[in-house]
Amino acid sequence: MTDLGELARRRGFYFGSVGAYGGVAGFYTYGPQGSSLKRNVEDAWRDRFTVREGNHEVDAPTIMPEPVFEASGHLDGFDDMLVECGECGESHRADHLIEDATDVEEAESLPIEEVEALIREHDVACPTCGSPLAGQDVEDFNLMFETSIGPGSGQPGYLRPETAQGIFVEFPRLKEYARNRLPFGVTQIGRAYRNEISPRKGLVRTREFTQAELEQFVNPERDEPPLDRVADVEARFYPASEQEDPDGGYVRTTVGEAVESGMVGDAWIGYYLGVAARWYERVGVDTDRFRFRQHLAGERAHYAADCWDAESEIGGEADADDLADDPTAGDWIEMAGFAYRGDYDLSKHAEYGDDDFTVFVEYDEPKTVERTSVDPDMSTLGPEYGAKAADIAAELSALADRDPDAFEADSVTVEVDGETYEVEADVANFTRETVTEQGEHVTPHVVEPSFGVDRTVYTVLEHALREDVVSGEPRTYLDLPPEVAPTDVAVFPLVTNVETLVDAADEVVRDLREAGFAVDYDESGSIGRRYRRQDEVGTPFCVTVDRDGLEGGNERTATIRDRDSARQVRVPMADLADRLATVRDDRSFDDLVAEFGEVETDLSAQ
Ligand code: GLY
Repeated sequence: MTDLGELARRRGFYFGSVGAYGGVAGFYTYGPQGSSLKRNVEDAWRDRFTVREGNHEVDAPTIMPEPVFEASGHLDGFDDMLVECGECGESHRADHLIEDATDVEEAESLPIEEVEALIREHDVACPTCGSPLAGQDVEDFNLMFETSIGPGSGQPGYLRPETAQGIFVEFPRLKEYARNRLPFGVTQIGRAYRNEISPRKGLVRTREFTQAELEQFVNPERDEPPLDRVADVEARFYPASEQEDPDGGYVRTTVGEAVESGMVGDAWIGYYLGVAARWYERVGVDTDRFRFRQHLAGERAHYAADCWDAESEIGGEADADDLADDPTAGDWIEMAGFAYRGDYDLSKHAEYGDDDFTVFVEYDEPKTVERTSVDPDMSTLGPEYGAKAADIAAELSALADRDPDAFEADSVTVEVDGETYEVEADVANFTRETVTEQGEHVTPHVVEPSFGVDRTVYTVLEHALREDVVSGEPRTYLDLPPEVAPTDVAVFPLVTNVETLVDAADEVVRDLREAGFAVDYDESGSIGRRYRRQDEVGTPFCVTVDRDGLEGGNERTATIRDRDSARQVRVPMADLADRLATVRDDRSFDDLVAEFGEVETDLSAQ
């Protein structure tokens, strides 16, 4: 089978960056084909998750100061397990070594001591030099890239490890743009950075990558997603309970049933799983190599109460029947995570930051409630209790909330630092009042569909790669959906030594570009080689201008060739843009064949 990495380099999809300086692991540059493909995938995501969901997109900085990441928990908890070889000094991800050497599937969910024990028990060796790793310490390694903001020693900052924090820290402003009404969603497509211990598999694990994230802010007491829109979407689920069962398998069901049965515990997560399943199919992910897998408890990120991943199979070698039924068959990667982050992030930023991270939610009916308060007389407490007076006042205030009846007696007792203090009720100045409240301040909960764009691009390429035989010649082609293909149409003059053909082809290129198509013009080599080049980059249609088309009378014509079937039709040049738009949008080349008949001459063989 064609090597995708080799094709990607040769045809300009992606390649390792800064080759002139020896390269650096974990950084990739998208070439002209790849950056178009990636942009098309991002546009398709934006169309689905921003525009059609009625959400709003933002574009936040990629560097933020240290307190943001103290609050978010990334400074303390965003670690991978590192083991360093005592012999050659190379660093490795300890959990990946365990997964390669044992049957353990998600070793990152294990405690460090257990990983060290497994390294010993299984004689795990350094993949670089082969020396035993038993006895080496496994350590937590923080994945954030540190930097300094401003000159001199500056202010410590970090490159964002997820785009999400740029949304959470701006929640006090974003809620105003949403007119202080829940639910609302904010999206962002942008770069994120993780100093991976061992980048691997091309685009799959890189140190700089693109995320497309949606933060859905909801009132957990009230807001329901429009689940009925996706309730009938069928998918393959691999819940934690099945992963923990040695005989566990897939659950094939609809999104509606998955939520109804409680397998997917939150309806918003279920809703976005349904939206995502359809979207992945739209951009070319093979549904037979796609599943939703729930995180095991120890695998979840520090902020997540529950998480499901969208995973794709990228090995391509497993038997189709095994792949269908056996969750351990195939080589799976995470393309997206759907996390229930609760109020973790907004509560943390409220605690560390200086702003209001709540939304005022009106009650259906105003509520009458009793409010209690104290206003301690500090001119009495101060002289009597000195440095303890402020703490005693705070305790009185807490007691008024906790046990207002305590203030019915002549004096109240509070405890500060293990000492009890008796304060006269008059000094506490306790009051009760009945008030009518219109609503309350709620810290929204967050449901987060977070997509790895590069992994999606990689999967789309992997799943599109095909080999067949056309006109007796083997060929490789990419069966990319026209919506994401880097080039919409390629235009060729059949031969280049006839000026009228070249001029007419130029005119077609100009017209199609003016009509909004991404057009590639190619006149180099035989027509057969030109078709093969376009097949390899997934161009869905090629237009060829030949003599027959110019000499056929009043109406000039050109051929359109369909990438997948290699069939051709001859259509009037004046209609090319309309015809191509129709066939691109609903992929009905059969309709064109029915209308115009198939061109008998197989130009692809020339
Ligand atoms: N925001 C989720 C993640 O970066 O994994």
